[in-house]
Amino acid sequence: MADLIDLRSDTVTRPTAGMREAMATAEVGDDVYGEDPTVAALEAEVATLFGHEAALFAPTGSMANQIALQLVVPVGDELLCDADAHVVTYEIGAAAAYGGISSRTWPAVGAEVDPDLVAAMVRPDGYFAVPTRAIAVEQTHNRGGGGVIPLPTLRRLREVADEHGLALHCDGARIWHAHVADGVPLHEYGRLFDTLSVCLSKGLGAPIGSLVVGSAEKVARARFVRKRMGGGMRQVGVLAAAGRYALAHHVERLAEDHARAARLAEAVAPFGVLAGPVRTNIVPLDLTKHPLDAKQFAAAARAEGVLVSVLGPRTARLVTHLDLTDDAITRATESLTHTLRA
Ligand SMILES: Cc1ncc(COP(=O)(O)O)c(C=O)c1O
Repeated sequence: MADLIDLRSDTVTRPTAGMREAMATAEVGDDVYGEDPTVAALEAEVATLFGHEAALFAPTGSMANQIALQLVVPVGDELLCDADAHVVTYEIGAAAAYGGISSRTWPAVGAEVDPDLVAAMVRPDGYFAVPTRAIAVEQTHNRGGGGVIPLPTLRRLREVADEHGLALHCDGARIWHAHVADGVPLHEYGRLFDTLSVCLSKGLGAPIGSLVVGSAEKVARARFVRKRMGGGMRQVGVLAAAGRYALAHHVERLAEDHARAARLAEAVAPFGVLAGPVRTNIVPLDLTKHPLDAKQFAAAARAEGVLVSVLGPRTARLVTHLDLTDDAITRATESLTHTLRA
């Protein structure tokens, strides 16, 4: 792997020297007893960033999403989200398995959301149908090619949620990228949602960690749900320290990842394989019209020294991240150009 350029995901990064130093010197305590000062500081910091009362450290983005969904959808009731959402695609049925949640989806079109379509799907309270309790959106959208939902659309969704008495959840694994791409302050996003899950271990480069963000009441319940799911952690300040370091050093630099993704997109575009506009750090590829299918493309790219992700028979993606340099992107564009031309 060492000399391969890894464009599979932004989760492949390794902690930097500065981050490791912060981890090594972190003050810790037993967080199940509420005694880890570094975790408490991280939770307070993230709550403030999003303009909410509280936040809770969780080991993974999936657990943070699932804790949040259990807070806003009672057993047997319904969640609405798009068909490509991480919560219904990659979380292995957790909403149903752990929360007893019934999920119904609207057709996915990149990161686009039509608030009127969502409003039309809402089922009212009553014993004759599954009542809708929450709407979830993903910012930025992973399978939607890193697309950003515009602020006015989110505001309209908030109105829809309010009109129907629903909660609005944000899977904000990469909300930092949206903030950097659109210049929307994090608290501006935060105020629109009842719950958010935000990840430190994607673009921000921490080895682990996500947070559930919400009101003090919700986060108190979230602490209970996390423990029930086996996510109560002990001297975890060493990991929270990595997250605090990432927040201090790795948010604004995401603009570099976006610029590098744009360079990759520009290089592959002439081959007719770009699946959509590139707004952040994900380059979605559609190989429908290319002689190589996704697996063949990935194998050929690997032989040229570049790792890519296969998402479907004819879909793949490239993702930029902290562990890449401009030079690596130059070499990747050369390799990918060669692969696609062959
Ligand atoms: C949009 C989105 N949400 C949630 C997650 C889940 O994160 P984790 O892998 O930490 O469970 C991911 C992971 O890539 C993701 O892309």
